[in-house]
Amino acid sequence: MEKLSHIFIGEKEVFLQTYNRLPLEISHGKGVHLFSKDGQRYLDFFSGLGVNVLGYGNEKLIRAIEDQSNKFIHLSNYYITNSQAELARRLIKYSGLSKVFFTNSGTEAVEASIKLIRKIFGPDKKIISFSNSFHGRTYGSLSLTWNEKYKKNFAPLLSNIIFSEFNDVNTIEKIADENTAAVFIEFIQGEGGINVASEKFVEKINSLRKKLGFVLVADEIQSGIGRTGKPFAFNRYKIIPDLLLVAKAIGGGLPLGALITSDKYSNVFQPGDHGSTFGGNPVACSAGLVVLDEVFENGLMDNALNLGEYFKSELTSLQSICPDKIIDVRGSGFMLGVKISDSCKSLVTAFQENKILVNCTNQNVLRILPPLIANKENIDFFLKVFKEVLTIHPL
Ligand SMILES: Cc1ncc(COP(=O)(O)O)c(C=O)c1O
Repeated sequence: MEKLSHIFIGEKEVFLQTYNRLPLEISHGKGVHLFSKDGQRYLDFFSGLGVNVLGYGNEKLIRAIEDQSNKFIHLSNYYITNSQAELARRLIKYSGLSKVFFTNSGTEAVEASIKLIRKIFGPDKKIISFSNSFHGRTYGSLSLTWNEKYKKNFAPLLSNIIFSEFNDVNTIEKIADENTAAVFIEFIQGEGGINVASEKFVEKINSLRKKLGFVLVADEIQSGIGRTGKPFAFNRYKIIPDLLLVAKAIGGGLPLGALITSDKYSNVFQPGDHGSTFGGNPVACSAGLVVLDEVFENGLMDNALNLGEYFKSELTSLQSICPDKIIDVRGSGFMLGVKISDSCKSLVTAFQENKILVNCTNQNVLRILPPLIANKENIDFFLKVFKEVLTIHPL
């Protein structure tokens, strides 16, 4: 492992200690690779927490950021800008929904949706979220997040949030009633361990929505924008959400998120109901236009679909070779999870020693989120290292 440089020695002196940093100082990135200061090259199969779908150093992206920066970097939402309007149009086109509110992050998109729901239903109706869900760290989104570890020191959170078991048709049927304002779902849960919603479960939610009239919110902050091989993970089912939340990939690495509403909910917010100084920043939106072009028009979503299938089937073959170490392989496209029989922390370190960056979530799920530009050679390298690491590595 690389010798720690001075930036790590000073880390504790200047930062609130909220993050466990990797002991790696990055000098730059190119394509699917990150380069450390001491000249090592790492295959990045985590892509900045699922953000860097175009990898590093994409020239179109850099040019778009430069061009917009030369005109103006920020104006505020007193103005409408070309890149903002065009990005909104494109998001509407790809999602099939109706109107957009831009935020700077995923959690802000969640907050915006909670406010919209509150405005319709008031504070007393309940909002349903699911076991293993993750929706963010601010108060509203934290209230919808399942893991107690994130919440335990921060009560009181929002009231009337009920957690139902993910993929359990009977429980949601019992919990959802005419007193339900909304259901929040990640069709593929990210942080919670790459758990894929079953078709039966989604059908049940859809039929309950038709009967009870609650708002269905799809949190696609991690799974959206082509990552699963479809525009959004909801496109894998026969369902259209009422509200759609995106962030991460959409800004090409700049802070950007969005709440996208169906026609029915597009007039709930009125001037003054919600706002943001930076939300929809013109530079971030210009970057977003390049991301949408590359993902939807220039083949990256199809790449994730096709190579994701190959990747998953090879991981499943690996499972059959090491069934005592790999318990499950799941996910779609370039959003894959490998459940390991023990904590996957040491596995992540072993990958890093072999020059691959990958993440461990929910203790024992290896979360694989390659940039959407990753090719077969990159995947084969990952598989080769995984095989080696599994055979020599005591779990
Ligand atoms: C599904 C989901 N929702 C919400 C969030 C919060 O997004 P952000 O970190 O941009 O606030 C995340 C972040 O990981 C996420 O994966």
